[in-house]
Order: sequence, then C-alpha cells, then structure tokens
Amino acid sequence: MRLGSEAPGPGAVRHPVFARYYARVSVGADARLGFAGVRGRLLAGLSGRVIEVGAGNGLNFGRYPATVAQVVAVEPEPLLGRLARESARRAPVPVDVVPGAAEALPVESGAFDAVVLSLVLCSVRDVARALEEARRVLRPGGQVRFFEHGRGGGPAMRLTQRALDRTVWPALAGGCH
Ligand SMILES: C[S@@+](CC[C@H](N)C(=O)[O-])C[C@H]1O[C@@H](n2cnc3c(N)ncnc32)[C@H](O)[C@@H]1O
Repeated sequence: MRLGSEAPGPGAVRHPVFARYYARVSVGADARLGFAGVRGRLLAGLSGRVIEVGAGNGLNFGRYPATVAQVVAVEPEPLLGRLARESARRAPVPVDVVPGAAEALPVESGAFDAVVLSLVLCSVRDVARALEEARRVLRPGGQVRFFEHGRGGGPAMRLTQRALDRTVWPALAGGCH
C-alpha cells in the first residue's frame, strides 16, 4: 500500500479548472441541494476500515461515525487531493489520502469493511473495472455504499442529458457523464 505518498500516480486525473470550480461550489451545493443529508445517510453505521474512492475535496470526511477505525481516501486529481488532505486533518476519524484511480486501487485485497463511492462513478473511465476493484478490496461480507446520479426521468430530460453528454458536459464537469 502506498499510504503517505502524495505524488500523482499512473492513474492521475487532471481537471484543474473543474477541480477549482468543484472546490468552490461543492460546499454550498451540499446545503442547497440537500446532499449533506444524503452524505450522512451514506455513511451511517459504518465501522472498521473504509476505502473512499474519488474522495474529491473530502466533503464526506467529517461525517464518518466514530466506529470507523480508518478511512483510506483515494483521489487522483492533484488539487482535490491537496484539499482532501486539509479536510482529513479536521476529520473526527483517521483519514489517509492517497493518489490513485478507481480502476487500480493502490491497496491490498480483502482489506476493507466498506467501499464508499460518492458522485464518482459518473467520471470513472472504466466503471466495470472500478466495480471489480471494489469487490477485490472488500473482505467477504463487506459493504459497498454509493451515492450516484444517472439518467433522468422523462424523455425531454433524457434527450437533453444525451446531447450534453456527447458535447460539452464531460469537458466542463471533470469527465462526468
Ligand atoms: C464530482 S467529484 C465528487 C467528489 C467526492 N466524492 C464528493 O462526494 O464530493 C468526482 C471525483 O471523482 C474523481 N475521479 C475522477 N476519475 C476518477 C477515477 N478514475 N478514479 C477515482 N476517482 C476519480 C475526481 O477527481 C473527483 O474527485
């Protein structure tokens, strides 16, 4: 395990403009869009060792229950990784932020009680590989907790989403689909 390393690894993701934008708007969005409550429900009841994949600027860190012994937070974007390290210092449980990608988690197999994915699978290039990795690193009986977004409800929304997805959206939103 490469815990403690801050150098961007081979899976580094570089979205400097999006990273600055996300760092600025995400805190307000948590309150405005009700994400804060969802994050609380996402993490409630977790215990033991947790790996959070694509941790961003660390908005979940303050919400881990005291029953969690350690969070390994994997973040491939350098600016968001730095912000996550700052957030980790204020967290109520030990959080180690490491570079790495969902498709090749830099940790050993079967070592975690839970995998947390929050607003990240939309941006991952190879979702099937990322889910295989989540399974690999979980102990038998471990949990995957996820908070993700997807296709909208009505035909007009779906059409709009498809058009944006094929044009500007991924470039503007850090690879989000
Ligand atoms: C919308 S942000 C969400 C951040 C955080 N999880 C949250 O809930 O606020 C998407 C995150 O996924 C990360 N990401 C993008 N591609 C990734 C990959 N292949 N593996 C892991 N994380 C990735 C981005 O760097 C960014 O931190």
